Amino acid sequence: MEILKCKGVRKVYGSGNSQVTALHGIDLTVRKGEFTAIVGSSGSGKSTLLHILGSVDRPTEGTVTIDGTDLSKLTPAQAAIFRRRKVGLVYQFYNLIPTLTVRKNILMPLTLDKKKPDQEYFDQIVSSLGISDKLEALPNQLSGGQQQRAAIARSLIYRPALLLADEPTGNLDQKNSREIMDMLKISNRSLEQTIILITHDEKAALDAHRIITLEDGQIISDEYRR
Ligand SMILES: Nc1ncnc2c1ncn2[C@@H]1O[C@H](COP(=O)(O)OP(=O)(O)OP(=O)(O)O)[C@@H](O)[C@H]1O
Ligand SMILES: [Mg+2]
Repeated sequence: MEILKCKGVRKVYGSGNSQVTALHGIDLTVRKGEFTAIVGSSGSGKSTLLHILGSVDRPTEGTVTIDGTDLSKLTPAQAAIFRRRKVGLVYQFYNLIPTLTVRKNILMPLTLDKKKPDQEYFDQIVSSLGISDKLEALPNQLSGGQQQRAAIARSLIYRPALLLADEPTGNLDQKNSREIMDMLKISNRSLEQTIILITHDEKAALDAHRIITLEDGQIISDEYRR
């Protein structure tokens, strides 16, 4: 099943002399359960593409459809709700709310919708992420790796159609990076979570089923592994 379809996506930043074309017509289809890595040099357009796929930003031209919804048809308010329910976003810095416990941070997307968590699913993700004993702590009482795992738990709590991660291990040491990558693999295998991961780490890219290389805003290679 197709979960993501991106057609002719162009992105131009700025105007006049300071115009930058960050994406030149990206066509991309991702099926449910795929684990895709996006690689490419700095400035090649990786984060721009991820933001557009996550409905954080809009393309200048082209369309993005996620789980049957054409993102261009959404008002800004609808896009915010869509993002919260359908897309999990994980960044290099964890963006946890410092004054809320880890538990409340993880549950935030549901709380905003006045929804109760499925306790079994909550327990499953926090225990597989190894943070069950940190739920009542504040984010700054956790290590970087633990904070990133809490951020991943938050991104998974809504069972998103798509998990988008922009260098989620960029701020972590080797051991923590390994653990985060293992968690992503587990959620991909056991929850059939569709993942798109931006990484500079060649080893991490090798964990994916598919590696897409961007250069100057274009896909220059798209390879399935195995
Ligand atoms: N808000 C913005 N306004 C103007 N130009 C931007 C903006 N965001 C990105 N760009 C430009 O668009 C191009 C692509 O940037 P992008 O952040 O997508 O690259 P990236 O592949 O994620 O790089 P990195 O690996 O360094 O994170 C770059 O030339 C960048 O300078
Ligand atoms: Mg980037």
